[in-house]
Amino acid sequence: MIDRIKEYLEQVNAFESNDVQAIEDFRVSYAGKKGILNSLFASFREVPADEKKAFGQELNILKAAVADKVKELQSQQLSSNGGSARISDPTRTPFPIQTGNRHPLSVVKNRIIDIFTQIGFTISEGPEIEDDWHNFTALNLPEYHPARDMQDTFFIQTDPDILLRTHTSSVQVRYMEKNQPPIRTISPGRVFRNEAISSRAHCIFHQVEGLYIAKNVSFADLKQTLQYFTESLFGNSKIRLRPSYFPFTEPSAEVDIYWGLETETDYRITKGTGWLEIMGCGMVDPNVLENCGIDPNEYSGFAFGMGIERIAMLLYQISDIRLFFENDVRFLKQFKATL
Ligand code: PHE
Repeated sequence: MIDRIKEYLEQVNAFESNDVQAIEDFRVSYAGKKGILNSLFASFREVPADEKKAFGQELNILKAAVADKVKELQSQQLSSNGGSARISDPTRTPFPIQTGNRHPLSVVKNRIIDIFTQIGFTISEGPEIEDDWHNFTALNLPEYHPARDMQDTFFIQTDPDILLRTHTSSVQVRYMEKNQPPIRTISPGRVFRNEAISSRAHCIFHQVEGLYIAKNVSFADLKQTLQYFTESLFGNSKIRLRPSYFPFTEPSAEVDIYWGLETETDYRITKGTGWLEIMGCGMVDPNVLENCGIDPNEYSGFAFGMGIERIAMLLYQISDIRLFFENDVRFLKQFKATL
């Protein structure tokens, strides 16, 4: 009996391999559930009493030799493979994987898209480098119209007809030129204005604009849609529409949501009024419909537009718009996307 163990011991000591599978097979054949060690331990009972002690000692030596051998071969194998060998050890601590974060602007944009697509709006996109027609003229802003000054425009120097879009209303012009009502679409995208950069203004920012055109669309439809939207996004349904002016809508309004005056911050951000402006809106001007090939006698519609930065600043209480563009991971890490 003891001789058999000694034979095994010699075999174990002589075993060499650099192959993961062969090492594993070796380990299983000795130390596995049905392996040699277990069967030797099971035969312990049959060993004559006076040999039991020596048998036990030899068996333990064999067991230790198997463990040492496996360990030695595995580490040899690992280092010869530059450490990349796959050793199936499910108890090993996994390497931490650094996960990225969605940018807060994307989080908010996706949320807005989700809210509008749920009520049947499609998503439309268009070029960031636009021509005068789609950014201005078709939107009832002919050349020399004073309202062009409302949007400080970056022109491409060599061609005054080509510019960086100042709003995504240009996308809606393109959409109307190609589609007849009913139209329900939102256009998220990046826009550009020549502003002095400050905590509240940036030359590049993002908008979501919306357009709804069908038969008999009324101002009440507009208000109800915005009510649904603000309730979904802010959980706060109290809004008011203040008369305003945009060349492409008539009548036009600015939308405020009721923010409240509970804290000092509320006072500061609402300038003591409790109300916060979040977007512009109005009934699409009949001239715009006509410019885009839609009959204003048959159809009417509404449009609205908002800045994503502004909404994100309100939702997350961010006080400086520049934080969105610095891409400091300590800032970005704070936002968790549910979408
Ligand atoms: N295009 C406007 C802007 O950029 C927003 C707006 C869109 C206003 C639609 C009214 C209707 O400020």
